[in-house]
Amino acid sequence: MQHYLTATRIDVLHSPFVFELYQNCIAKESNLGQYQNIEKIREHLRSVQTEINFEDFGASQKSRTVTVKELAKQHLKPARIGQILNRIIQFKNYYSVLELGTSLGITACYLANSPNAHLTTLEGSKAVWEQAQLTFEKAELGPKIVSQLGTFDSLLPALIQKQPQYDLIFIDGNHSYEATLRYVEMLSPLLSKNGLLILDDIYWSPGMTMAWRETREKFTVSIDLFFIGILSNRIGQVKEDFKLRVW
Ligand SMILES: C[S@@+](CC[C@H](N)C(=O)[O-])C[C@H]1O[C@@H](n2cnc3c(N)ncnc32)[C@H](O)[C@@H]1O
Repeated sequence: MQHYLTATRIDVLHSPFVFELYQNCIAKESNLGQYQNIEKIREHLRSVQTEINFEDFGASQKSRTVTVKELAKQHLKPARIGQILNRIIQFKNYYSVLELGTSLGITACYLANSPNAHLTTLEGSKAVWEQAQLTFEKAELGPKIVSQLGTFDSLLPALIQKQPQYDLIFIDGNHSYEATLRYVEMLSPLLSKNGLLILDDIYWSPGMTMAWRETREKFTVSIDLFFIGILSNRIGQVKEDFKLRVW
């Protein structure tokens, strides 16, 4: 509610870069038909009673048995956020996308569902990763997605060597202050000239809030959408932080 009340009004938004992004990707309602298949898969996952062993390499570090249904309800970004990410990738015609935290693969499908996009997505929990492979098969997005199993820390060094540039990097795993700052430091040099780094769950905990506030100081433009934070290092842009509404 506080975010909603203090967000910048679109009619006073003076940055052409942010205005364009807002009009075309954040506020715009796209043709939802293109996402029907992904949302059908989400619906199915929300009914799967199969129990799997979720090894948590994230902030809680507690491994446990969960049903696929529980993960689908608790871990995945809502359709609205997936669609914003997808519209950004389509509008900017991005090619290379990296996601930290695949989970069951639903947001990954949104990230890969653009004509030229190629996604690399990382997941540490084996049983969860296996479920994501089923999602990618069903979505028929297999050839556009490289889905790697392993912890972020074990996979990132080789990945950075192999592919040193990304147009969009989405960090959605290991939501702790220290890990978030570390990934941002490792990954921000890989952003292409017009690239965007997006952090998820920026107000999930006091640690994440602190990580978001510190990180946005290192970028020229930050856009706080409450659920996610978008960062850009555009050359020639005056430093500015925006707070905008998603709904
Ligand atoms: C919130 S979920 C991702 C949701 C997904 N992006 C979506 O919206 O469809 C975070 C995932 O990151 C994985 N993860 C967290 N910390 C990790 C780490 N250090 N290495 C590898 N995977 C990790 C978890 O296993 C979990 O599946």
